[in-house]
Amino acid sequence: MEDHDKQILDDSRAIWDANAEAWDSRIGSGGGWQTVFIAPTVEQMLNIQAGEQVLDIACGNGQFSRRLAELGASVVASDFSPKLIELAQGRTTEHVDRITYHVTDATDEAQLMALAGTQDTRFDAAVCINAIMDMPAIEPLFRSVAKLLKPEGRFVFTVMHPCFNGLAMGMQPELDGYDSEPTYSIKVSGYLSTERTMGLAINSQPRKQYYWHRPLHVLLNSAFSNGLVMDRLEEPTLKTDTPPKSAFDWANYDMPPLLFVRLRPAG
Ligand SMILES: C[S@@+](CC[C@H](N)C(=O)[O-])C[C@H]1O[C@@H](n2cnc3c(N)ncnc32)[C@H](O)[C@@H]1O
Repeated sequence: MEDHDKQILDDSRAIWDANAEAWDSRIGSGGGWQTVFIAPTVEQMLNIQAGEQVLDIACGNGQFSRRLAELGASVVASDFSPKLIELAQGRTTEHVDRITYHVTDATDEAQLMALAGTQDTRFDAAVCINAIMDMPAIEPLFRSVAKLLKPEGRFVFTVMHPCFNGLAMGMQPELDGYDSEPTYSIKVSGYLSTERTMGLAINSQPRKQYYWHRPLHVLLNSAFSNGLVMDRLEEPTLKTDTPPKSAFDWANYDMPPLLFVRLRPAG
């Protein structure tokens, strides 16, 4: 890794450490967007069976790692932020024997491969929720996951949808007249360029974080050229029966905020 890239990665980790408390308070032990919107589709795609060995990469405060343990899995959870791992450990009071937490940089193949441990474990499943767009390099992650999974294993990841949800995209509610229904559009002012930007994931975080936008062909070809094939893709809606909270609520939009992808070793 070049000095400049290492500096960005170190800076990114320092930012996640600084934002860790705010992130942990928002995610808490569940109930928000993570559990209500993301987890149901991820769980369906993963189809975890009791006793399976599962890798949770970039686990944040470990909320989904604990859910996996609740489903009966043995979980190896990791994140590059020591502060988030400390908070994750502090929140783990049940199924303690079924989760181990590690400080691991997911852009470093050697660190990821070390998650196999002394038993050289091959995992039944791996998951990475909403973190790939926070990483400056994704090839090491895909390459390692292809090797860490059993031949019939599966890897599910979610990202901000590269076509509709990013810093080059803006929500545009419009009302043509008082007697008409509003229309809800997304203005896309950039898509094909692979770009680094900075922004907020949640309003309460003290520091802006890095984002790496990748168009679909860059994101998915990176997985395909590193030993994985795709067998399922989901784009769930946030539309519900309850009225949207504002014109900028995703529930108004016939567009998905996140992309859910399932990959398997190419064999
Ligand atoms: C938006 S949070 C999602 C956390 C968790 N997966 C969840 O769904 O609650 C993104 C996470 O990615 C982690 N992260 C960012 N870059 C990373 C890297 N290079 N290696 C490992 N973790 C990283 C951050 O520390 C943070 O916990």
